[in-house]
Amino acid sequence: MFSKILTFNRVTSTQDVARRLIGQREEIAVAARAQTRGRGRQSRLWFSPRGGLYVSFLLFPRRRLTSLPLAAARSVIRILEHFGFARVSIHWPNDILLDNRKVCGILCEQVRGAVICGIGLNVNTRRFPRSVSNSISLSLAAGHEFDTDQVLRALVTAFSLDYRNLQDGGLDIQDLRPYLSGLGEPVEVRTRSGAITGTVFDIDNDWALLLADRVGRIRKFLCGDVRRLTW
Ligand code: BTN
Repeated sequence: MFSKILTFNRVTSTQDVARRLIGQREEIAVAARAQTRGRGRQSRLWFSPRGGLYVSFLLFPRRRLTSLPLAAARSVIRILEHFGFARVSIHWPNDILLDNRKVCGILCEQVRGAVICGIGLNVNTRRFPRSVSNSISLSLAAGHEFDTDQVLRALVTAFSLDYRNLQDGGLDIQDLRPYLSGLGEPVEVRTRSGAITGTVFDIDNDWALLLADRVGRIRKFLCGDVRRLTW
């Protein structure tokens, strides 16, 4: 899978490049060393200087896959562990944390029968703007730089496997439960229709967040922003 990996020095966004390739109906990976208009979730910008790794997988899944971020998260965790990192966790829905700081973001977009799964990984980023000050890179955490091409190859290999397993029904949320941060904790979930507070009850097999609200009712969220609260 992903026999084709297109690599660029600088693009606006690898999501945009992947989008332009939909017509070819081929599952490919698009990678860049820098982005001038990297996109994050909820229309935020993704800080994309040289030193980071920016990849978009153009996919044509056989069926609707709400849990695609689960496969991407599994792959990122797999490679971080391969490179020797231990304190890795997931902040639902799409953030991978290292030492409780954001090292990777995942953005899945549905476009004209395709899904584009973008992964931004802070590999050798040295400093971050104040707006994303709770970020970390692999090099800052490890004290040495990494070969971004090697990290890219590892990520493509891992994602090929996890995506295939997901399509075949062989990827289980149980694999990721030990990495989930915030289970049982009070949080606020912000969605387009407002904010709801409650306690994180669980994550289900659709990769949905199950929140126990203040009266104990279980509410299901397929997307949203989660902020920890202290009650
Ligand atoms: C987030 O945490 O908000 C998601 C960030 C996703 C960033 C990646 S980098 C590769 C791909 N290209 C983009 O413009 N965005 C995604």
